[in-house]
Amino acid sequence: MRDLTPDRASLDAIEIASRDKISSLQLERLKWSLGHAYDNVPHYKEKFDAAGIAPGDLNDLSDLGKFPFMVKDDLRQNYPFSMFAVPRQKVVRVHASSGTTGIPTVVGYTQNDIDNWARLMARSIRAAGGRPGDIAHVAYGYGLFTGGLGAHYGAEKLGCTVIPMSGGATQRQVQLINDFKPDIIMATPSYTLTIADEFERIGIDPRTTALKTGLHGAEPWSQAMRAEIERRFDMHAIDLYGLSEVMGPGVSCECVESKDGLHFWEDHFYPEIIDPESGQVLADGERGELVITSLTKEALPIIRYRTKDLTRLLPGTARTMRRMEKVTGRSDDMMIIRGVNVFPSQIEVEILKDERLSPHYFCELSKEGQLDSLAVVVEARPDIGQEDKDAAQQLLAQNVKTYAGVSVAVRLGEAGSIERSMGKAQRIKDLRPKS
Ligand code: DLL
Repeated sequence: MRDLTPDRASLDAIEIASRDKISSLQLERLKWSLGHAYDNVPHYKEKFDAAGIAPGDLNDLSDLGKFPFMVKDDLRQNYPFSMFAVPRQKVVRVHASSGTTGIPTVVGYTQNDIDNWARLMARSIRAAGGRPGDIAHVAYGYGLFTGGLGAHYGAEKLGCTVIPMSGGATQRQVQLINDFKPDIIMATPSYTLTIADEFERIGIDPRTTALKTGLHGAEPWSQAMRAEIERRFDMHAIDLYGLSEVMGPGVSCECVESKDGLHFWEDHFYPEIIDPESGQVLADGERGELVITSLTKEALPIIRYRTKDLTRLLPGTARTMRRMEKVTGRSDDMMIIRGVNVFPSQIEVEILKDERLSPHYFCELSKEGQLDSLAVVVEARPDIGQEDKDAAQQLLAQNVKTYAGVSVAVRLGEAGSIERSMGKAQRIKDLRPKS
């Protein structure tokens, strides 16, 4: 893989500014953001008033801990546009996520918000090793999902030639990657592997493509998955994080020179980690739920949004901005099997230890009498004989028991038998009766 470390002079000055400078910018912006939310969104005013707190009570960054949290339901209750802090006419774009309850979560952007988002995505692509003049292939879905358009505007802002491919039509993805020779790919990690499979199916080694780096996110993925993508494409695989409620992709991103966690773009977002049970703010370094406050967003200021994503904050390295550790799971995705907590990403790590198994898998939850039980359904790699399949199946069950602490049944499917995701992979199938 090529050394793609960006020239320090090409970074935004604030990425490597002193901590004091970053903190004072955050405090100034946080005061503005709280006031903007309180003055312009009745829902925030009601919540702050009920908690007996006002924007003027914030004198220090740590005072943010006194303000109430916000959850997805706050957005749903205000469907579609009541959380907007600017007149609807100033909102130049909306995105929405479908959600499981039927009521989508709607988010809006002013022109300034769109420009800031493009700048942060451009910063992320540069951190991942992208440069002006590169060709960027965007295979995140375009539409109400923030992935496609977020990546697209960022790549244009950086000065790339963008291929707005969107997700799906995998044979066409392969053809265009071959013919247009993009330097950068942006796609979910699971879909990136689906593209690799298609290359191999038609007899082309994905290592021979022009791709030099990929920005992968929108779903949890393990370090083992990174190694798999890097090996199969001979390119860097960089972790990109974001969520529509807060902006979209580009809230934090790894950098290619250290790949040691995702730099939180702290000039636009203020991260906190809380104990998900008590809501108590935890110190940097401690694991918990990520809570995010926007510092510059005009259309939809977001104050203390509970992401449900589990991670921890770490000091800066290649940038002064703090890092968040790779998100290994959402509290929603935690499976509790006979009292033991387990995330799909832990199973993924065990699968990828075995060269006979493919990275295509899902976890199936069902009920055995009163107890929950877990089956791991995974494909063997193509051309694996029956004896090896049996051995791999047994070993996986053993390793999951040893390292994740749960007993699972392992079912091995034929190569190609597990449905491929075109975007976010569904790692959990819950067959338990709904109570
Ligand atoms: O997934 C935005 C995005 C698009 C991020 C493209 C990165 C790349 P939502 O659909 O609102 O937005 O889903 C957000 O996806 O709360 C996490 O649970 C998960 N997620 C996003 N990025 C990562 C990541 C987009 N790098 C939800 N690692 C978030 C783990 C991620 N989980």
